[in-house]
Amino acid sequence: MYSVSQRKTCMHPGKRAAAAAALELVKIDTILGVGTGSTVNVFIDLLAEAGTRITGAVASSEATAARLEGHGIEVLDLNMTGDLELYIDGADESNANLELIKGGGAALTREKIIAGASREFICIVDHSKQVDILGEFPLPVEVIPMARSYVAREIVKLGADPEFREAPRTDNGNIILDCFGFSITNPVELEAALNAIPGVVTNGLFARRGADKLIVGYDDGRIETIDKPD
Ligand code: 5RP
Repeated sequence: MYSVSQRKTCMHPGKRAAAAAALELVKIDTILGVGTGSTVNVFIDLLAEAGTRITGAVASSEATAARLEGHGIEVLDLNMTGDLELYIDGADESNANLELIKGGGAALTREKIIAGASREFICIVDHSKQVDILGEFPLPVEVIPMARSYVAREIVKLGADPEFREAPRTDNGNIILDCFGFSITNPVELEAALNAIPGVVTNGLFARRGADKLIVGYDDGRIETIDKPD
């Protein structure tokens, strides 16, 4: 049974279980990289509730920054912190190699920057995010607005069906194309091919730098921790 405050933070027991397990791995006095999304929101709320003393956080979106600051957690500039010990973020899909699709919340570019600048990336998901082959979740691609149609045509050549996301611009002022129909058997190769299209800022494949550890939460509150295979 959940307390009222738990119900307020998240109705999804799998997300909550994964977020709570990640909290155990946060060292005091650290500068933490913090991702974006509903699972991370639970993590932020639990971090604040637990009173874990961290020096501050680097946020992957304006929404995350606002939530952290709302809890009195200082948000720091990655340009001032240097590399981070630990980054905690969610994902839309993960395969067995801990290669991910991210960007459902449109924060993929800043997420990829922080993941790259962090020594360890722990990804927190509920069980529904585990897949054999990435691509059922439409792959988000962040694009410079003037390149939208050109990039869309190039993505069609790579075998997918891009759809313009009718949403406010990203935090970086760009647009998102959600790419349907990719069956991603070689994520590293596709990540590079998409990033090579002029006008693409980044894409939501986190394969070159995937997660180091995946914490999977189940509806009954159990968790499973999977380390990146060697
Ligand atoms: C945001 C992301 C999120 O991590 C991803 O969309 C998962 O979100 P949620 O935890 O709400 O399921 O990549 O850009």
